[in-house]
Amino acid sequence: MLGNFSYCNPTKLYFGDESLNYLNTELPKYGKNVVLVYGGGSIKKNGIYDDVVKILKDNNKNIAEISGVMPNPTLNKLYEGIKIARNHNADLLLAVGGGSVCDYSKAVSVSVNCQEDPWEKYYLKFEEPTCETIPVGCVLTMVGTGSEMNAGSVITNSETKQKIGHVFADEKIMPRFSILNPKYTMTLPHYQMVSGIYDIFNHICEQYFSGDDDNTSDYISEGLMRSLIHSSKIANKDPENYEARSNIMWTATWALNTLVAKGKPPDWMVHMLGQAVGGYTNATHGMTLAAVSLPYYRYIMPFGLEKFKRFAINVWNVNPQGKSDGQIAEEGLKAMESWMKELGVVMNISEFGVTKEMIENIADVTIILKGGYKEFDRNDVIKVLEESL
Ligand code: NZQ
Ligand code: ZN
Repeated sequence: MLGNFSYCNPTKLYFGDESLNYLNTELPKYGKNVVLVYGGGSIKKNGIYDDVVKILKDNNKNIAEISGVMPNPTLNKLYEGIKIARNHNADLLLAVGGGSVCDYSKAVSVSVNCQEDPWEKYYLKFEEPTCETIPVGCVLTMVGTGSEMNAGSVITNSETKQKIGHVFADEKIMPRFSILNPKYTMTLPHYQMVSGIYDIFNHICEQYFSGDDDNTSDYISEGLMRSLIHSSKIANKDPENYEARSNIMWTATWALNTLVAKGKPPDWMVHMLGQAVGGYTNATHGMTLAAVSLPYYRYIMPFGLEKFKRFAINVWNVNPQGKSDGQIAEEGLKAMESWMKELGVVMNISEFGVTKEMIENIADVTIILKGGYKEFDRNDVIKVLEESL
């Protein structure tokens, strides 16, 4: 490893099918006023809501609710939640849901005591909070984003069609604790399950496909990818398989809790392309990534051939004998493609309603980041989006 870095991750995790009990351990650490944050109602159907509310009441908490947090949470919804948290004098924001609910709670946390407009401050200027933030705790019900152990928060401005993520530098923004019960993920529809699986895989790829040094982070990434591929195939056929679902849940957390980015200049262009498509279509996050990934990786492969060759051999068990580097690398991507098809993820952005005429507009809201094997410009963005149709 040749990079310089610091590492700190203060989120306390409770993992396993009895992990909700540990909410009783965490709640006494915070004041009386809890805002329970959740989505469109899945937690009411599967009973998680009742279990959480009972524990909150047993701990004498004074509860307010922010409900109806939508997938790809919007700025208008954020304004609504800030008011509720302010009126309740929130001591703790308890997010019960997936990445959207968790991201949203972090956005409320940094905005409650902030006088400036949060969109302007955090999502356009990427500033850090200058006010007191409210602690966030998380009970995770959907696996993929890693939001349970990172400081990322993605908000969509539906008016400007911008979907922007801010990864806060201050570790205080990470959830103070997260409760990970693999059983909670079993009521997810297949579409969401595989979307989350692809999101995890792509988080690892974005951090793996960069840099040329011999880096421990890449070896950890290969292990995580192998575990995910193995467990995803089992869960795809048998969604009730606890062992597979639990491995997927744990892999998701480690895929994006900053560990495997250490010493690396991560890429994140697939996420920038996927988020731009998401801002336009409101499509499911992991599926937007799946639909642009292969065109992106085929496009940049010649610029990072060594790593793509290593990916083929170490992750996909491609036999290199008698083949050129290019052939080995392409075989790796073909193996990845057939795994994606086996899972049933979305392979083209036209499935979300994107047409050729929309590409220029989507390119306009695509944020271009450096770090990957090929430095992109607007033309590259357009080419990859066209290939993804
Ligand atoms: O709203 P409800 O009714 O709860 O339904 C949700 C939602 O419709 C449903 N769901 C969740 N748990 C369930 C369940 N349905 C049945 N049973 C359960 N146990 O699943 C749907 C999707 O939930 P959502 O939270 O939107 O999914 P996900 O976890 O994929 O989060 C997506 C958001 O996270 C952002 C994305 O951009 C997107 O806005 N991301 C956050 C990141 C971060 N913090 O670092 C990084 C990621 O790359 C990503 O950008
Ligand atoms: Zn993602």
